[in-house]
Amino acid sequence: MFNLFTAVFLALLAPAGTLGAALAGSDCTGTISSFDDVSDAVKCTTVIINSFTVPAGETLNIKLADNAIVNMMGDVAFGNQTWEGPLFEISGKNVQFNGNGHTFDGNGPFYWDGQGGNGGVTKPAPMMKVKISGLWTNVRVLNSPERAYSVGNDEPLVMSNLTIDNSLGDLPNSQSDGLPAGHNTDGFDCSTSNLVIEDSIIMNQDDCLAINEGSNIVFQRNTCSGGHGISIGSISSDVTVTGIIIQDNTVITEDQALRIKTHSDATNASVTNVTYSGNTATGMRQFGVLIDQSYPDTLGTPGNGVIISDINFIGSETNIAVDSDAQKVAVNCGVGSCNGIWDWSALSVTGGSSGEIVNFGGIEDFSQ
Ligand SMILES: *[C@@H]1O[C@H](CO)[C@@H](O)[C@H](O)[C@H]1NC(C)=O
Ligand SMILES: *[C@@H]1O[C@H](CO)[C@@H](O)[C@H](O)[C@H]1NC(C)=O
Ligand SMILES: *[C@@H]1O[C@H](CO)[C@@H](O)[C@H](O)[C@H]1NC(C)=O
Ligand SMILES: *[C@@H]1O[C@H](CO)[C@@H](O)[C@H](O)[C@H]1NC(C)=O
Repeated sequence: MFNLFTAVFLALLAPAGTLGAALAGSDCTGTISSFDDVSDAVKCTTVIINSFTVPAGETLNIKLADNAIVNMMGDVAFGNQTWEGPLFEISGKNVQFNGNGHTFDGNGPFYWDGQGGNGGVTKPAPMMKVKISGLWTNVRVLNSPERAYSVGNDEPLVMSNLTIDNSLGDLPNSQSDGLPAGHNTDGFDCSTSNLVIEDSIIMNQDDCLAINEGSNIVFQRNTCSGGHGISIGSISSDVTVTGIIIQDNTVITEDQALRIKTHSDATNASVTNVTYSGNTATGMRQFGVLIDQSYPDTLGTPGNGVIISDINFIGSETNIAVDSDAQKVAVNCGVGSCNGIWDWSALSVTGGSSGEIVNFGGIEDFSQ
């Protein structure tokens, strides 16, 4: 009652168009050609973004009206400054954002030192914080300083036809001591539900996708190259991941194609109902499939505080080719924490050597 009264009272006092601008927009076209244009432009339900550079040390924070339609007509670059970021943030319900192939340029080479989030200079991360529902399409992200997208939609969101191009970070630079200059350049970090990511290209040096928490997530028809593959995790305490579909993706020259990683000390968490179907991977450097409960170690002493169940390779065949010194499949479960029967009848892995299956006997219709 108090809240309703307060809201009505404030609405009467507020000049038209200010209060509630985050909900119902005005029927106008707002144009963003500089950082200072943002606050006025987002009052409109139609927004155009022209080419400009965001001042160093600022977040381009676009808080859209419900049902807004946004089109990029030029590229946006971010000024150079060592700070925590994010560089870009966007929110709004049932929004349609079309990049029309235009680019957000993070100027990664200014920051890259081969250390990512583990040291060196402070790097803005994530570069792109997406909180809208609706559609985010045809956007190119170039050279993220560290992690590229973090996704946290409240209502259903489709992200399609995107490019994340951090391929330049594969090369060393003068600061990286011979290592690839880009590091921890995750493609999509997702702690969210009701999300589809499809038809996109991700070139980077860390996870292509990392699902940290959430349900009803589909990742399909994407191409990942250069990094650490398509991951669920790393899973921490008190987290649930369920209802995940990973299908028809192409994975090229990554450490592993498909991975589930859970922290060895995590408790009260679960990863259930994950379906892999129709994926193709070539040139895996370490593993084809890796399910490991010893994170941050690899194949170390596993914890058993994260339940893993109902992990299946079904439908169209998933075909993975690993390098000669890589392992086909390694599964490192804690005692009693991997449960049930997993149908792996639609998985084929060639090359390399067989890995170990530890503390679990429920994988059916697969041999390596
Ligand atoms: C995908 O993006 C490309 C390049 O930006 C563009 O030419 C193409 O029309 C887009 N496809 C769809 C379905 O929007
Ligand atoms: C930011 O850094 C990049 C890469 O080092 C450089 O090419 C660019 O000119 C710099 N931009 C500005 C505005 O200083
Ligand atoms: C277990 O995790 C759930 C969230 O998944 C949380 O609500 C609950 O409080 C946690 N239980 C304990 C004992 O920490
Ligand atoms: C598993 O996840 C799929 C995809 O989200 C969903 O359709 C299905 O109902 C789930 N199955 C169970 C048993 O929860």
